[in-house]
Amino acid sequence: MPSVVSVNSSVVRPEDALVSVFDRGFLFGDSVYETFRTYDGIPWLEDEHLVRLGNSADRMGLPLPGGLARVRDDVARALNESHEATAAVRIVVTRGAKVGLIDLDPGTAGTPDVYVLVRPYTPVPEATYRSGIELALVGVRRNARDALDPAIKSGNYLNNMLALREAKSRGAYECVMLNKDGFLAEGSTSNVFLVKDGVLATPALDSGILAGVTRAYLLGLARAEGIPVREILLRESDLRAADEVFISGSLKEVLPVARVDGTPVGAGRPGALTLRLLHAYRSGIAAARRVR
Ligand SMILES: Cc1ncc(COP(=O)(O)O)c(C=O)c1O
Repeated sequence: MPSVVSVNSSVVRPEDALVSVFDRGFLFGDSVYETFRTYDGIPWLEDEHLVRLGNSADRMGLPLPGGLARVRDDVARALNESHEATAAVRIVVTRGAKVGLIDLDPGTAGTPDVYVLVRPYTPVPEATYRSGIELALVGVRRNARDALDPAIKSGNYLNNMLALREAKSRGAYECVMLNKDGFLAEGSTSNVFLVKDGVLATPALDSGILAGVTRAYLLGLARAEGIPVREILLRESDLRAADEVFISGSLKEVLPVARVDGTPVGAGRPGALTLRLLHAYRSGIAAARRVR
């Protein structure tokens, strides 16, 4: 259960944080959201998440009441009241509710509502980073960019949920989806990276993916460390031939992939470049904490 929830700038107990059945996020998935975590109470890469929230809202023509400054204040207030050292923060902005009205036309909507959910977060166990996870290449394709662009982080995650459901039914930890043209896209809540012959490769943004905040940070780290990096169109055969595979996400950090569809990746354990990037990622967080 979230420890605190901010509802339109008022912090309330989780049990008092209620959403109207006429809310457009509830009815249509007509909302945007962000998730990030804190380390020692400090939000990590919050600015990047807020910028993406603003971009998602712009793409949907969803006005943010009070702009990003107000959202930032709401996050700070909720975090302050939660006292959680390690929290997951979810910002949700819905196009709002008009009591009694169910009308798909966004022109009939009232004022958007801003929610911030802060919950204690239990990180992925270190043993999982040491063993690596299993990934399933699923049959569910990622939404086409010209239908529902995955770059918009909307509250409609049905595509992702169906893909994850398929992966879980096959005993995997996370899925990886192809796009409609058969190129690698991303996981349900993660971006995917491959290593082949010392080169780090990840699907280009025009593969139709979410521009992951962790993805961008890792690409910056890799370039700073002189690791050759490619953002390109990748195929299933690249995934299957990779020396190393890992997924990235704000809650998962850099999570090594040991198997794809039951077949070991490389030696079947986390690879050297993957572990180097995980280490560099965590060092970046530690350095930011020291500066605060
Ligand atoms: C579809 C999708 N791709 C990638 C990611 C990873 O993004 P980030 O690194 O910003 O958490 C997420 C995060 O939830 C996601 O939902």
